[in-house]
Amino acid sequence: MSVENASSLPAPPWFARPGARAWRCAPAPAEVRGFHAALPGYAPTPLTELPPLAAEFAVGRIFVKDESCRLGLPAFKALGASWAVHRVLAERAADGAAPGPVTLVTATDGNHGRAVARMARLLGQRAHVFVPRGVHPRAAAAIAAERAKVTEVPGPYDEAVRLAAQAAAGPDAVLVQDTAWPGYERIPRWIVEGYSTLCAEIDEQLAAQGVRRGPDLVSIPVGVGSLAQAVVTHYRSRPSGRAPALLSVEPEPAACVLESLTLGEPVSVSTGDTAMAGLNCGTPSSIAWPHLHGGLDAAVAVSDADAARAVARLAALGVSSGPCGAAALSGLRAALTGTGADERRTALGLGPSSVVVLLSTEGPDANPHSTTDR
Ligand SMILES: Cc1ncc(COP(=O)(O)O)c(C=O)c1O
Repeated sequence: MSVENASSLPAPPWFARPGARAWRCAPAPAEVRGFHAALPGYAPTPLTELPPLAAEFAVGRIFVKDESCRLGLPAFKALGASWAVHRVLAERAADGAAPGPVTLVTATDGNHGRAVARMARLLGQRAHVFVPRGVHPRAAAAIAAERAKVTEVPGPYDEAVRLAAQAAAGPDAVLVQDTAWPGYERIPRWIVEGYSTLCAEIDEQLAAQGVRRGPDLVSIPVGVGSLAQAVVTHYRSRPSGRAPALLSVEPEPAACVLESLTLGEPVSVSTGDTAMAGLNCGTPSSIAWPHLHGGLDAAVAVSDADAARAVARLAALGVSSGPCGAAALSGLRAALTGTGADERRTALGLGPSSVVVLLSTEGPDANPHSTTDR
């Protein structure tokens, strides 16, 4: 057991649901993987084993899924945007829409908007991206560099989503948002389907490393919960293999999923500033909620200082993560160290031979954040 367990670190904000590993749902469509595999520049992102971390946390093996370069962008988001935009354009063509470019509209904490803008540029479409406060100017500039129109919103992410939805109400515009609400669910579902490729790659990569039954724990950085929905869908729909524990990790100032799980119903929280800009969301996605409620074993919230420490730890081990990506490690550390660590380890079902996968969802270039260089 880790030395830090004996320390007097306070218990983190934490929720656990016994029985989540038995929850079941339908799988993602099988054709998504083939779609991505046919895209120019597609390659599976690395799954890197980090033995020093496994020794530190007293588990068998720890792997990091490194999304710092996914389809030429520094975060996993292009998986969802590419599949959803493909479906949107195919549907418009099938419906006999007038030829000519459509404007793909979205709101973003950085990564999703850049991915939508990239897809629009590659496919000869237009993009209009709403950026809330707290997104670094360099992240906004990267979206504009994809030839997107960028509208800066002096409010939080939820407000940017509202304004994007309004802007998409015009002709020849489509909202491609990575969060859902009642009445707007089809396109977010396609985005979630797109993320399934990441989990399929992990299966193959773990098997190649001799881990044929899959992981025992997956640690997931969470904003609105769409990525977590994809991960729950993958592991709770498998006909065989073990059912891993699934851990949601959020920033303390934007822990809407932890708060919703604690209350037993989806709620919005007011968000503050955080270096984990991609996770700075106040409302769980409506289509994600049943999956998060049923299929997540635990949720934890971490501070910016925790995330910065995890960025440095991963960098020292040769993995480049931004703060959102490193949140997966922060969450693992919060769960397995400090007051109450033994109970949390038991809730996650972890033992000395357990296999852990950390989803490092972005590289450091995705989301530059510093209060000094704005
Ligand atoms: C780098 C990164 N990690 C994780 C997430 C969380 O994804 P979701 O909002 O689907 O929970 C995001 C969302 O923007 C992100 O940009």
